[in-house]
Amino acid sequence: MSLLIKGKIHTGEKLIKGSILIENEKISKVAIGDINVSVSEKIDFSNHENIIILPGLIDIHAHLRDLDYSYKEDFISGTRAAAKGGYTIVLDMPNTKPKTNNIKNLIDKNNLAKLKALIDYGLYYGFPENVNEFGDEIVKLCSGIKIYSYEDYYFNKNNEIIEKIFSYAFEKNIPIIVHAENPIFFKGSGSDFFDRPIEAEISAVKDFLEISKKYGFHLHITHVSSAISVKIIEKHRFNGYTNVTLDTCPHYIFLDENSIRFLGSFAKVYPPLRKMSDCLYLLKSLKNGVIDIISSDHAPHSFNEKMKPYEEAPAGIPGLETTVPLLLTLVNKNEISLERFIELFSINPAKILNIKKVGLIKEGYYGNITIVDMKHEEEIKAEFFESKAKYSPFNNWKIKGKPIATIVRGKTIMLNDEVFNFIGWGKNVKAYD
Ligand code: NCD
Ligand code: ZN
Ligand code: ZN
Repeated sequence: MSLLIKGKIHTGEKLIKGSILIENEKISKVAIGDINVSVSEKIDFSNHENIIILPGLIDIHAHLRDLDYSYKEDFISGTRAAAKGGYTIVLDMPNTKPKTNNIKNLIDKNNLAKLKALIDYGLYYGFPENVNEFGDEIVKLCSGIKIYSYEDYYFNKNNEIIEKIFSYAFEKNIPIIVHAENPIFFKGSGSDFFDRPIEAEISAVKDFLEISKKYGFHLHITHVSSAISVKIIEKHRFNGYTNVTLDTCPHYIFLDENSIRFLGSFAKVYPPLRKMSDCLYLLKSLKNGVIDIISSDHAPHSFNEKMKPYEEAPAGIPGLETTVPLLLTLVNKNEISLERFIELFSINPAKILNIKKVGLIKEGYYGNITIVDMKHEEEIKAEFFESKAKYSPFNNWKIKGKPIATIVRGKTIMLNDEVFNFIGWGKNVKAYD
């Protein structure tokens, strides 16, 4: 199987007008101008000024659900949504039912994902039930360990397992991804308006920076929502502790707490939406490189669940099909450069999660490619999502710039809004050689 892609290419290092040849899943040649070979498939955008060929985009934080929550999403609908949204790789969180926090469940989940996923995927390991659940399969199958600090760490009396997990992550060179919120600061049920103040996030950010300093593992703080948290991480890195990275999500940049008034439960997410000043600081930190990654935190729930009153509705926003267009809109507004966009979506995710041979368009790398039309304008229409969660706080928003093709190891999974049903093509990124 061979694929030739022609057009304007940003390799992640430079912009060229040229061609990419993908053979046996990997990029065998990148050249300025033409490559004269006969191939089984050809994609030619050389006459389209506004179309740019990019290194495949990666989402490091998604809840593809499946198993007992497959009514919310499953590996097929979730990876179809990811392909439609321009992603070549998506990483699945462990808070499924049952949780991915013992070896058996991990193996079962990997087998299920292998059968169903259309695009490549990564798995996270959850906080284990006991110290016996640290088999080699974690290193073999997982890209990181995910800690929900509010339930796994704070109030956890099992010091043996806490000690084990941090030293294990260091020894095996597995990053720890943290949801940073200290429940001591929660008010009431923790699930109503303003029940989760920024102090909760700030406290957990500070605690985990100290923990990672002590144990030496790579700490990645996910979905950071407040300006102060970013400033603390920035200062920590400035002081020489560079083993810490962070991401934020579009909802923390584009929406503030006032959105809750008209969007109700559709704007309910943990950590919650903050103030406009936080949104602006996050945007600034996107531009200047302090924020390493944009993740979607795609957290689908059923429409009926989200229709419940705010306090009872589950938290989470589906983001796989809105994140890339929203960020391309920022590129079009000159808020961030295309180079920054590629760092946020390809280069940094590959680097931080140690995903081999992706993140750039380069000979010898996997043929993972996302093609975007920078000038395409449309309105977000949640009713047409591939995701089972057909609602969005960004419904009807105008975007400029969207993914028009997703290519995974040389196979075209999405082209011009059509997702081809290559169920089972997806491969665990840990199997990359
Ligand atoms: C996530 C979910 O629904 O699984 N919800 C959310 O509000 N972000 C959990 C999480 O990422 O914390
Ligand atoms: Zn979270
Ligand atoms: Zn999440």
